Amino acid sequence: MKKSKAHSTEELEQMKLINSKEKPKHIAIIMDGNGRWAKKRFLPRTAGHIEGVERVRDVVEASIDLNIPFITIYAFSTENWKRPKEEVEILMKLLNKYLKKETESLHANGVKINIIGDISELPDSVKSEVKASTEKTKHNNQLTLNIALNYGSRQEIVMAFKDMYNDIEKGIINISDLNEESFKNYLYTKDQPDPDLLIRTSGEKRISNFMLYQIAYSELEFTEVLWPNFKKKEFYEAIIKFQDRNRRYGGI
Ligand code: FPP
Repeated sequence: MKKSKAHSTEELEQMKLINSKEKPKHIAIIMDGNGRWAKKRFLPRTAGHIEGVERVRDVVEASIDLNIPFITIYAFSTENWKRPKEEVEILMKLLNKYLKKETESLHANGVKINIIGDISELPDSVKSEVKASTEKTKHNNQLTLNIALNYGSRQEIVMAFKDMYNDIEKGIINISDLNEESFKNYLYTKDQPDPDLLIRTSGEKRISNFMLYQIAYSELEFTEVLWPNFKKKEFYEAIIKFQDRNRRYGGI
């Protein structure tokens, strides 16, 4: 994490506006459009991912500045293994580098790094970096940064069901204790509030197997901006739009 740059007048105005209203407690982001960003510049797709990491930094810094307690970023889905081997390798390298380089300053800023997804299938190098950074930051409480890695929501729900079934068989919980809230204890996001806002960049209007249980009542923001162009200004704009919406949760 870089040292936070001085804010522009526009950013300060946006922050003031955001701070004057109720803020989202949890923002989930589908970071999409890295490949298209690179293609437009006649660059390899990986250049888009590299620039994408800069936007992760921006969003983390902005969330700290705004005291937003939870963000979740979709870094690698269970479907992303279908990409060319070289691209998968680069993505794993970038993740490793990010964790290696940033953990110290994330820790100093009170960020808890939390991985959601099945990390057992990741390369050993990523596994050990993940272990070190989650262990080091586990007591922090300024911001929980959920990195979705080898994550798929259907896989998560099936895993949750199996774990819950085991607990019922062992008598740890009773079937009558099972409800919508208690089921959440078996998801990767246990003990976290559901996302208030889900942002997907790049103009695609899909959920792509992301947090299906948790986003039941989330506000959805689909923006045309490609992820590598999604700077603090765009993040603030998405929050301001969210704050202008009227959430009714099925009521009137
Ligand atoms: C989608 O764009 C993006 C991804 C599958 C990877 C997102 C990863 C990063 C931003 C970098 C790694 C993250 C961390 C936490 C260091 P796409 O490649 O599908 O773009 P396209 O749809 O334009 O081809």
